[in-house]
Amino acid sequence: MTEQETIRYGYHRDRYTALDAITEAQKIAFYPIFFQAIVSMRNTGILTCIDQAGKKGITFEEIEKKISLSSYAIELLLDIGLSMHVIYKSDQYYILGKVGHYLLHDKMTEVNLNFTQDICYQSMFYLQDALESGTPEGLKVFGDWKTIYPALQSLPEKAKKSWFEFDHFYSDHSFPIAFSHIEQLNPKHIYDVGGNTGKWAIYCAQHSTDLKVTLLDLPEQITVAKKNINKAGLDERIDSYPIDLLTAKMLPNKADLWWMSQFLDCFSVEQIIYILKLIHRSMKDDAVLCIMDLFWDRQSFEAGALSLNATSLYFTCLANGNSRFYHSKVFYQCLHDAGFYIEKDIDNLSYGHTLLICKKIN
Ligand SMILES: C[S@@+](CC[C@H](N)C(=O)[O-])C[C@H]1O[C@@H](n2cnc3c(N)ncnc32)[C@H](O)[C@@H]1O
Repeated sequence: MTEQETIRYGYHRDRYTALDAITEAQKIAFYPIFFQAIVSMRNTGILTCIDQAGKKGITFEEIEKKISLSSYAIELLLDIGLSMHVIYKSDQYYILGKVGHYLLHDKMTEVNLNFTQDICYQSMFYLQDALESGTPEGLKVFGDWKTIYPALQSLPEKAKKSWFEFDHFYSDHSFPIAFSHIEQLNPKHIYDVGGNTGKWAIYCAQHSTDLKVTLLDLPEQITVAKKNINKAGLDERIDSYPIDLLTAKMLPNKADLWWMSQFLDCFSVEQIIYILKLIHRSMKDDAVLCIMDLFWDRQSFEAGALSLNATSLYFTCLANGNSRFYHSKVFYQCLHDAGFYIEKDIDNLSYGHTLLICKKIN
């Protein structure tokens, strides 16, 4: 970590007074309890009911009439809301605070919270085991798989919805701006490596009349992607190639642009180098490699770095046990080791993505 990052995110100093620090320590001690209580406040409609009352606020008796919980339960949740500064109280009126506003109305907060609740929460009990073993011990909550990727389509409906909404929220927002950079490279055929449900492939085909796209992903994802491509009427322009990138020895080489979005973060450093070398020896010499990923050191705000560092533990505990959202210097080193140089490095695409445009060194 450079000095600049430690300062940007406030990691260079002990920011609390002793009194603040003991309060923060208690929050950590009780975080899972607070989290579940705030999720309950949202799900039972208490937050919405307070929000709808506006700046004037709403009394306990009025909340009781609108919410189908006992007064005991409502009182408990309101007290938690006050303790977490999600709501505040003026005379006898409860009013939604700014934190409550974001919990209710900010889409990013919503997808993060649902991902934590529906995918991570129960699994995180096994985090220490995962850290010690290097395998995703928390995945057993959902079933018996080595990694989460072949399991994605078989997750319980709610968990599956939260996983895909979380994944798509970040990449979907960056696709338009990323595409404006990709367009300038004038590709004729893109390989979308780890193309998932086909969103980027469909976006590209819909925004360029003669571009071809090939999706490379695990067979489980290709089955779903094919349905989406067919629904979009793009069978002629998008084809697919089911493959496990970790066992493949060679890849097809028709593309002039190789694209990987939120993909390499799914692998350990050794695996990233393996995949990059595989692409290097398969691709045409003048083809371009474009990587869109999230680096915790490139975030404009502390909340960005914090969210990425938290999500890294999802990779540890559930996804595969050995990957994370990396510091950008790790990707630089992997690319160099695999024989690539970075021609362009573009930060701050939408919600904190970085786009690396790379070419073969030799
Ligand atoms: C986090 S998703 C990224 C999805 C998409 N590119 C995006 O930007 O939203 C990672 C994708 O990598 C695929 N994947 C994971 N391991 C793989 C492997 N060993 N071989 C091929 N694809 C793999 C997963 O199936 C999944 O579709």
